[in-house]
Amino acid sequence: MNRHLISAADLTKDDALLILDTAEELAAVSERSVKKLPTLRGRTVVNLFFEDSTRTRISFEAAAKRLSADVINFSARGSSVSKGESLKDTALTLEAMGADAVVIRHRASGAPHRLAHWVRGSVLNAGDGTHEHPTQALLDAFTMRRRLGGIEGRRVTIVGDVLHSRVARSNVLLLNTLGAEVTLVAPPTLLPVAVHTWPCQVSYDLDAVLPKSDVVMMLRVQRERMNAAYFPSTREYSRRYGLDADRLARLPEDALVMHPGPMNRGVEIAAEVADSPRSTVVEQVTNGVTIRMAVLYLLLGGAV
Ligand code: CP
Repeated sequence: MNRHLISAADLTKDDALLILDTAEELAAVSERSVKKLPTLRGRTVVNLFFEDSTRTRISFEAAAKRLSADVINFSARGSSVSKGESLKDTALTLEAMGADAVVIRHRASGAPHRLAHWVRGSVLNAGDGTHEHPTQALLDAFTMRRRLGGIEGRRVTIVGDVLHSRVARSNVLLLNTLGAEVTLVAPPTLLPVAVHTWPCQVSYDLDAVLPKSDVVMMLRVQRERMNAAYFPSTREYSRRYGLDADRLARLPEDALVMHPGPMNRGVEIAAEVADSPRSTVVEQVTNGVTIRMAVLYLLLGGAV
């Protein structure tokens, strides 16, 4: 496996399956009363977050601690970044403190790639701008595999603000590697110009695609990244692209409803759908810790 995890495209099918299988073994640890393994004792993991996060930041911290690594949490807010310190100088400072792995979230697409040239340790992309979020795709694949028994040949529909979604891009790449058939559904204004080069289908008609879906993954409308009006109104968006109880009823009986979080309840997903037994939203968070344990274990060459 590559030393870094920057893009889902870095993973071969064998790499991805190794991560999913390792996570399956590590899941047992998370179910024990003492959730700790000595695997990464003496190793240091730095969480370098330049953008807000709840799930990813906390789960990387929990994952590293469950493997007995030392964890340094860095948040741009309250650091010398506010005095103008660059990413490179911040990285070199952390490197001087002996980081074996740097987990980075940054608003700039490509920041983890740059960082990988400056530090000796492994770099793990925890979300870079609108580019990629590979561990989210891995935890989504892990959730699907656990629930559906396999991913090969499964039909996954990803709905909503694809344009601003690093989750969508990483999921399309990873799910394609794992043999799923992916369809993106979005208004034309919320699709990237180059979407025709992605290994997936595109549709504008959610109601037509739902009955043929094993999984429907709803994406958050990312208002904080929007600098123009991408749809007439929130009400109109929900009417055409939101998942409500009526649409839920059109899904096959065993189909899953996923959302990476955070959710805009009442916009892309109705509260009753988010809280329904079909929804894997909470399970995805639990699986996030397990997947990040597996990734840290494999990249840092831990020994059981
Ligand atoms: N899914 C996800 O990346 O959530 P956070 O922004 O809370 O980390």
